[in-house]
Amino acid sequence: MLDIAFAKPSTPESGALVLPLAEEDLGGPLLAEWDRLLGGHLLRGLAAAEFKGRKGQAVSLYAPGGGLSRLLLVGLGKREAMDAAGAEAAGGAAVAALGREGIVSIDARGAGGWAGSGAAAGHLAPVHLALGAALRSWRFDRYRTKEKPEDKPRLTGIKILCDDPAAARAEWPARKAVAEGVFLTRELVSEPANVLSPPEFADRLRKLEKLGVEVEVFGQKDLEKLGFGSMLCVSQGSAQPPRMVVMRWNGTDQKKRDSQPIAFIGKGVTFDTGGISIKPAGGMEDMKWDMAGAGVVSGLMAALAGRRAKADVVGIVGLVENMPSGTATRPGDVVTSYSGQTIEVINTDAEGRLVLADVLSYCKKRFDPAFMVNLATLTGAIIVALGNEHAGLFSNDDGLARRIEEAGRAVGELAWRMPMGEAYDRQIRSDIADMKNVGGGRAGGSITAAQFIQRFVDGCPWAHLDIAGVAWSGKDAPTVPKGATAWGVRLLDRLVADHHEGRVAAEPEPAVAEAAAVSGAGSASAALLSEGTPASEPLAPSPDAPAAPAAAPPSEVASPASPTPAPAARRPAARRPRR
Ligand code: BES
Ligand code: MN
Ligand code: ZN
Repeated sequence: MLDIAFAKPSTPESGALVLPLAEEDLGGPLLAEWDRLLGGHLLRGLAAAEFKGRKGQAVSLYAPGGGLSRLLLVGLGKREAMDAAGAEAAGGAAVAALGREGIVSIDARGAGGWAGSGAAAGHLAPVHLALGAALRSWRFDRYRTKEKPEDKPRLTGIKILCDDPAAARAEWPARKAVAEGVFLTRELVSEPANVLSPPEFADRLRKLEKLGVEVEVFGQKDLEKLGFGSMLCVSQGSAQPPRMVVMRWNGTDQKKRDSQPIAFIGKGVTFDTGGISIKPAGGMEDMKWDMAGAGVVSGLMAALAGRRAKADVVGIVGLVENMPSGTATRPGDVVTSYSGQTIEVINTDAEGRLVLADVLSYCKKRFDPAFMVNLATLTGAIIVALGNEHAGLFSNDDGLARRIEEAGRAVGELAWRMPMGEAYDRQIRSDIADMKNVGGGRAGGSITAAQFIQRFVDGCPWAHLDIAGVAWSGKDAPTVPKGATAWGVRLLDRLVADHHEGRVAAEPEPAVAEAAAVSGAGSASAALLSEGTPASEPLAPSPDAPAAPAAAPPSEVASPASPTPAPAARRPAARRPRR
């Protein structure tokens, strides 16, 4: 993570300076001031370079005066159209252009001032510049042993010059926690499948305990005992055992924790060969990122815990490897899912839905969440439909779908609602079981997949994000270097922030005043992969929740670090639903 410092404007004596500017500010006082400080070279330089301040335009001037090595002008476009995303993109552009510099200062004074409130308010420009810079600076170089030092980025920190550094400093830890969550996701998604097996994935998630997340790991025997026939038929051909990891962040007032949590579920196929319905060789290496849904849920939990989000959140990932072998599931096999419904497995390459089926019904049964959102690199068909610009959004709840679309627009992670319906559902009827795992042909393949999953949510408000087209990118974007994007971490963090935090005071409850007084303890930045003291103590599960045999705690691979038993199967009916 880049070191970010906020400071009052001053003239840097060395290194590079970045000036984000709106089109209207080319003749303005900020530029005039820097021009004076740099001995009059700046205005001539940028006239020669034809810098107009257009959005995305970046011009570099070398040795512009003073002791500066470089001056980078970044266009923000028209002032009236400026927003948080534009500031983030400018921060990202600075890092992309100046990675070789040792010291970089960004003058944030030209970047703010747009309309908007709350998280989108214009005075937060310095924080958005910092976030964009941090997000773009991430790289995965663990397996490069021969990179020359001069080819490695030298940039380790950025100084953001702004009028109110204290305000920016107060906001930064929460944004930094989200960036740390994004980084965790990108790292998990980037790891090759020989390293990131289901057990290794689960082990890495145990580190989230340091942030105060409760982590339970279920192994093969636990899952057999639970009756996860659908998920286990995917892993049975692999030498790698499966895992399910249940993560819980309890961020609301403990005394009031009787509300329903919200839940996020991820497909974690650490490698998808297709199984016996094996995939063609070309491009199969991409299937190392078939665990991106699980990666996003993991990063989201890290982000929420890292910024001490005031919400109760469950994150569950189903981790398996899909391999062909003598023990693999055959096309035509019939399996019994955790829900009791039987599935005829026509195509072993339609495995993600088999994993989600059991994890979703388990989540619903054990936690009775206010809603469930699952993420999965589920179908190639969604790439045919939407390309790489939108994820596919499927939902049984219009309000939830709208809130997801809105949160996505706010952070630049776009989702497009797709249709569902009875006619599609009919296509997964089986002649010998309750359903089959693929529709009749390829037409509407993403929709029939969604219909399949929906059969396991048991009436719970639910949304499914098919992220096959957006989880990985072949080209750099302003705040997302090419490779693993972590698409969804910021969107869902925003969804939680906008709709599931700070609502306690609005509730007609006797404990309102007290609950409102228990404000957040501030944000803890996610010291995720480093050793050290935990950001907070893990919170104990609610003691009044009865355990049921169907949702028994994991035994086989239970972490010695998390001996807490699994609580609550079905919640008592008297519990007050809250959405
Ligand atoms: N993991 C794939 C989907 C995928 C494809 C993700 C390309 C990312 C890029 C999924 O498990 C799969 O194989 N889906 C099949 C479903 C088919 C057999 C009905 C597909 O899309 O071809
Ligand atoms: Mn597959
Ligand atoms: Zn898959």
